[in-house]
Amino acid sequence: MVSCASQGENSEMNSYISSLMERMTLQEKLGQLNLPSGGDLVTGNVNSGELSELVREGRIGGFFNVKGVEKIAALQRLAVDSTRLCIPLLVGADVIHGYETIFPIPLALSCSWDTAAVERMARVSAVEASANGIGWTFSPMVDICRDARWGRIAEGSGEDPYLGSLMAKAYVRGYQGNGMQGKDEILSCVKHFALYGASESGLDYNVVDMSRQRMYNEYLPPYRAAVEAGVGTVMSSFNVVDGIPATANKWLLTDLLRHEWGFNGMVVTDYASIAEMSVYGVAPLKEASVRALAAGTDMDMCSNGFLGTLEESLKEKAVTEAQIDAACRRVLETKYKLGLFTDPYKYCDPDRVERETYTDEHRTAAREVATETFVLLKNSNRLLPLAKRGKIALIGPMADAANNMCGTWSLTCNSSRHESLLQGLRSAVEGQAEVLYAKGSNLYYDAETEKGAVYIRPLERGDNRALLDEALHTAARADVIVAALGESAEMSGESLSRTNLEIPDAQQDLLKALVKTGKPVVLLLFTGRPLILNWEEANVPAILNVWYAGSETGKAVADVLFGKVTPSGKLTTSFPRAVGQLPLYYNRISQSRPDDDETVFNHYTSNYLDEKNSPLYPFGYGLSYTHFTYGEMRLSSEVLPKNGKLEVTVTVTNDGETDGTEIVQLYLHDVFAEIARPVKELKGYQRIHLKQGASRDVTFTLTENDLKYYNSKLQYVYEPGEFDVMVGSNSQAVQTKRFRAE
Ligand code: BGC
Repeated sequence: MVSCASQGENSEMNSYISSLMERMTLQEKLGQLNLPSGGDLVTGNVNSGELSELVREGRIGGFFNVKGVEKIAALQRLAVDSTRLCIPLLVGADVIHGYETIFPIPLALSCSWDTAAVERMARVSAVEASANGIGWTFSPMVDICRDARWGRIAEGSGEDPYLGSLMAKAYVRGYQGNGMQGKDEILSCVKHFALYGASESGLDYNVVDMSRQRMYNEYLPPYRAAVEAGVGTVMSSFNVVDGIPATANKWLLTDLLRHEWGFNGMVVTDYASIAEMSVYGVAPLKEASVRALAAGTDMDMCSNGFLGTLEESLKEKAVTEAQIDAACRRVLETKYKLGLFTDPYKYCDPDRVERETYTDEHRTAAREVATETFVLLKNSNRLLPLAKRGKIALIGPMADAANNMCGTWSLTCNSSRHESLLQGLRSAVEGQAEVLYAKGSNLYYDAETEKGAVYIRPLERGDNRALLDEALHTAARADVIVAALGESAEMSGESLSRTNLEIPDAQQDLLKALVKTGKPVVLLLFTGRPLILNWEEANVPAILNVWYAGSETGKAVADVLFGKVTPSGKLTTSFPRAVGQLPLYYNRISQSRPDDDETVFNHYTSNYLDEKNSPLYPFGYGLSYTHFTYGEMRLSSEVLPKNGKLEVTVTVTNDGETDGTEIVQLYLHDVFAEIARPVKELKGYQRIHLKQGASRDVTFTLTENDLKYYNSKLQYVYEPGEFDVMVGSNSQAVQTKRFRAE
């Protein structure tokens, strides 16, 4: 057995790995490139499972999605004790917004605009995952998405590259901590590289086709930000880029990622995407494996292409030993950097499980962060916050569904330990008010349609008519109605595209019936994507979007509903008026015939005969229980001198009824550029907390860096000339001033 050396500088790592690789057979090297899913393979005694056979034979470099530190430790022990070279395994999992303590879905997290909150989420996730045997998370997902039909919009940070980049960095910092040396610091994997969020028609796994300018200016920045933050691994995406599946795209994985951006970590494929190249009609498995390796893929997730075919391809000279060595070296380097050669059991301390999982401290963090992600969409006559008195009717299929609070990618949680919303509200008002409850409706009228939306987390169904009757009876006894409606947890996420973005039929009718009672109604909206809420905006007095808020939903919603916390979230994704508007995003490229007057139909301008162009709720939008007034924007000068700076200041006053947090946003528009540029782009924001009655000057400092973009030659330049700077409370409510850049 080889003794595992201690870690140190790069040269130490290089010589350690070189000497290890000298002793490796070809099969052992190929084994390192193989990443099967643990999932169903490991049940019960790992020593008899298929996965353990693979480990014993040195045919895998790691595995993913196995829950249970004991099982994981047993597999690690097999790798370390029973293989010739005792190379430890990488153990991955989709820890996307928490392990057992679940935070809000990533789209919601981005609506906090609070990078510290996202970093806190990632830190807690890393602590819990590492306490449970996991050393590698397949997060962050940073795919820019502008099409609410795509279910995976829930997994990312919305439509904006600037905000998306800040979020990407925060995730990586939180997971990897101080260089992944601590036992609670884990390896992060940015995904899905690249452009996956631009799937045509919002259909999952669909084609993507995009100009290089658009890639560089709009879609690539968040991946690059993660690389700059030191992310250890990159996952290639399912889609094609320039017609070539990302997994086999050399321009993407080598020229751009490694040469242009200087990434020196490991690239892993997405699930079976080498094998799926044959479905694409691009290459059968053997050739696909050759092409993926040549493109810069290091680890093969679930295709068995590298392990199964590369030996033969080597004999046939379709690949070189140097290519295999390069991939193997990067896998081993990743393990080395993670500290696994020093301590293969770094993440296998069973004492940590109880102590560091779903702790009070973590749950408090999840609750606090969740309250920052809620977006108040409407609040007529200051209906919210609710007073803790009288009778509150909580009605809707999401009201008492603890198994549906966590949203997509929360398979490691244990929802039997979570409170439902009903329980959360009841304990919040105990002794002061009464919370009545009725389920009110099924998710959908049709049981078959509902089935697809609850395939892992079923909701008990009832008779449509009887549910409604019970709801109306309950509503009649109440002073105020809180309707908990929207999507079930499994209506957004992977392979969950929708063409109809309204609240499902049965729930919509329930809401209409509740509003018709004439009692005040608050819509608590559960959703993993923007929904179309035209009727709701016109008819429901208050709408609070709580997304999927995680394991602490009950308490967090109570905190905001009853005013302990004032909502401060702002949308990072535009809410459309109609599906026909999609894709829809605020930072659209300027058009030759814009429609500046939406009140009438203007022939020969860029508009729809039957709908406005604008979203119902724009990017950056979100209300508060208090009110903020913006003074006139001041510029320190009308000129931004070369190599100099320009200050933009606005006085913000909290002139409402309570303390609150405002997210002050700054946008830029390049008046004339070599290529058509966006009408506005977010370039800065500040989250400020203001006591009731207080004012503050908020200052942004612009430099020429903020003006740069990728021109037609893909040079990152700024062009002297005029720029519009906009400041405001959302992407539409802005004031504008012009300056000149020298
Ligand atoms: C998803 C990835 C995920 C992987 C492993 C794939 O289907 O696209 O986001 O990390 O599965 O579970």
